[in-house]
Amino acid sequence: MGDAVSNHIAASARISPLALIEESTRGSRLDVGELAFIDAFVAIKFVGGSGDITIGAETYLNAGTVVYSGNGVTLGSCVMVAANCTFAATNHAFARRDVPMIRQRFQPSRGGILVEDDVWIGANCVLLDGAILRRGCIVGANSVVSGELAPFSINVGSPARFVRWRPDGAGP
Ligand SMILES: CC(C)(COP(=O)(O)OP(=O)(O)OC[C@H]1O[C@@H](n2cnc3c(N)ncnc32)[C@H](O)[C@@H]1OP(=O)(O)O)[C@@H](O)C(=O)NCCC(=O)NCCS
Repeated sequence: MGDAVSNHIAASARISPLALIEESTRGSRLDVGELAFIDAFVAIKFVGGSGDITIGAETYLNAGTVVYSGNGVTLGSCVMVAANCTFAATNHAFARRDVPMIRQRFQPSRGGILVEDDVWIGANCVLLDGAILRRGCIVGANSVVSGELAPFSINVGSPARFVRWRPDGAGP
């Protein structure tokens, strides 16, 4: 069972022996880039769709974060994911009341989750199917993201709302 041979983990990536990386059962691919870090008690689970999971170079997933493959999860490079975040790239179907939701499969894809390069996601955040986090944005602790966050924006809350832009300290 499974399709683990399609997974690719770069030689320089560090995966804690206490992380759980399940085997793909739907042909989904896991790709972990150079110098990525996956901490203890991170769980990568192939459920709720046939999307791939891509974790870019130098991207950090801290302890307790769970990634559900669903309709696909793409994390760019130099992304920082703090502890206990959930990437929920799938939704249960619930259109019928006479059938338990557990037997109704999943809703159509909203496009999966895309996190571009150099994003910081604070602790305890939940990212939903269709979330797009553009380059350089920040998500404050305990936020829920379902839509698109602008490049270099700072966003907090549930639902996550824009609070201000990151400064550009580059100078003249
Ligand atoms: C978002 C964050 C980065 C601060 O950004 P900031 O632009 O400096 O924001 P400020 O502190 O000026 O706060 C702006 C407003 O957002 C509110 N706010 C800040 N963080 C918030 C959060 N996580 N949830 C809800 N509201 C928050 C502030 O109370 C403030 O509200 P006000 O304008 O009504 O007073 C920080 O608050 C945060 O959440 N950091 C995550 C820390 C973390 O998870 N670390 C894990 C280890 S990496």
